[in-house]
Amino acid sequence: MSKVQSPKSQAEDSETTEARGSARSVTQGTEADSGLWTLDFGLKVTDLRKSFLTATGERIAVLRGVTFSVNPGESVAIMGASGAGKSTLLHLLGGLEAPDHGSIAAGDLAVEAASQSALARFRNHQVGFVFQFHHLLTDLTAAENVSLPLLVKRTNPREAARRAIQTLEEIGLGDRASHLVGNLSGGEQQRVALCRALINQPAIVLADEPTGNLDDTIGDEIARSLVKYAQKVQAVVILATHSHAVASLCNRVLTLRDGRLLSAS
Ligand SMILES: Nc1ncnc2c1ncn2[C@@H]1O[C@H](COP(=O)(O)OP(=O)(O)O)[C@@H](O)[C@H]1O
Ligand SMILES: [Mg+2]
Repeated sequence: MSKVQSPKSQAEDSETTEARGSARSVTQGTEADSGLWTLDFGLKVTDLRKSFLTATGERIAVLRGVTFSVNPGESVAIMGASGAGKSTLLHLLGGLEAPDHGSIAAGDLAVEAASQSALARFRNHQVGFVFQFHHLLTDLTAAENVSLPLLVKRTNPREAARRAIQTLEEIGLGDRASHLVGNLSGGEQQRVALCRALINQPAIVLADEPTGNLDDTIGDEIARSLVKYAQKVQAVVILATHSHAVASLCNRVLTLRDGRLLSAS
């Protein structure tokens, strides 16, 4: 894996280089002029198991040995009935919860064994989350919402605003940048949430039914944007969905049933 000159400013580069640690190597790609990175990064999940204790004291095994890997640039749909464990799997992959057993290699980082501070850096700098309910701040503008992950990284506010507007323009929402999110339609809000997840150029995007409460056209558009993003920066996209139409837009479809992935490869 290689580490080369950053197209970003020196100040930001030193900050992000530290923050990324060894888990993500970065190669300057053909998109460098537009500030994008080509990522050399993959995800390898081995024998992941997770159970929960219910309110009645019963232990339910949700994931019973999940194994799969995803190459850089690849988008994978995770299907399965409600309660099959899709959200649980995404939470484990993003380091939001710890597995009972098994390993998650995100590039060089062993997510399951990482310290809390390494996990916080991983989540802030390498993972983009998109949820069904977008958790946007409705009394901020679209551009302000999108720039938040950059401000968390202490990017210069003016630069953060510029990149937020650019990201919104790329998804066709440039004319909504200064609108309060609370005044946007559901589909527009979810596209703003997508921009917020992608503005950091995360190496892994975890999308939990991001199209679940949208009409088919907008749902397809969200999924297409994610697939395109994965290809463009060689990121890994994992998208949990109930929709066969949405799943079919991804490079590969895996189905969770009885705690295992059926069509793993
Ligand atoms: N924190 C938790 N405590 C107890 N049970 C949980 C917890 N999180 C998830 N579960 C249970 O795990 C199962 C899988 O849930 P989930 O991953 O949300 O499924 P899906 O996203 O496929 O609908 C469900 O039975 C759910 O109730
Ligand atoms: Mg779920």
